[in-house]
Amino acid sequence: MTKFPVLTIDGPAGSGKGTIAEYVAQKLGWHILDSGALYRLVAVAAQKKNIGLDNDVALSELAENLDAVFLPCEGGGVEVCLDGDDVTHAIRTEECGCSASQVATNAGVRKALLQRQRNYLVAPGLVADGRDMGTVVFPDAATKVFLTASAEERAKRRFNQLNEKGVDVTLAGLILEIQKRDIRDINRSESPLVAAFDAVTIDTSELSIEQVVAQVLSLVADVSEKNTM
Ligand code: DC
Repeated sequence: MTKFPVLTIDGPAGSGKGTIAEYVAQKLGWHILDSGALYRLVAVAAQKKNIGLDNDVALSELAENLDAVFLPCEGGGVEVCLDGDDVTHAIRTEECGCSASQVATNAGVRKALLQRQRNYLVAPGLVADGRDMGTVVFPDAATKVFLTASAEERAKRRFNQLNEKGVDVTLAGLILEIQKRDIRDINRSESPLVAAFDAVTIDTSELSIEQVVAQVLSLVADVSEKNTM
């Protein structure tokens, strides 16, 4: 068992992890770790320095010395800075997600980011969102959730988000992109995307955000009740 309570939320791109993690962390008053943002930051830093996405040694060094700051904004959300520059929007593009997925296949990068991720665990607790939170980074977490949704549903959500922002994309293109990312995340040898054996899987395809949040909060409550018995 970890020193402070940890809730891990893992799952594929677009399964709703980020949104659910944010709502649940707010309700619980816990800290949040968006581990995907760290891989995205390594990808941005690599691009800035012209480092190839398969150069494990150079990427590991980048990851080791990543000057990343997450500043909570007053009205909600987080400002993300890399080397003092605001990269909040730059790290959220489809292109950056795809590069992050490639960066994340490097064993040295994953090793370099491991302790940094664990350092996010401080009182009163942590909601950790990613691909390997329950399997590798916080294997002793008290509550583990694995969120899924069909590739079509996930692409649809992303399509609506991007449409709202006026970004010109096609649904068919997004489905292909998501399937490609799933294949890479699931099949890599280092910390592949897989549900921890003790995780509860929730298929969010047909559920509202409120319904998923309620299910996750009730799992956390069950665990904390058991621990106080
Ligand atoms: O959650 P996200 O879309 O921001 O993650 C971007 C990429 O980073 C994802 O395709 C795989 C990688 N990633 C990872 O390998 N392990 C994590 N814990 C989080 C993200």
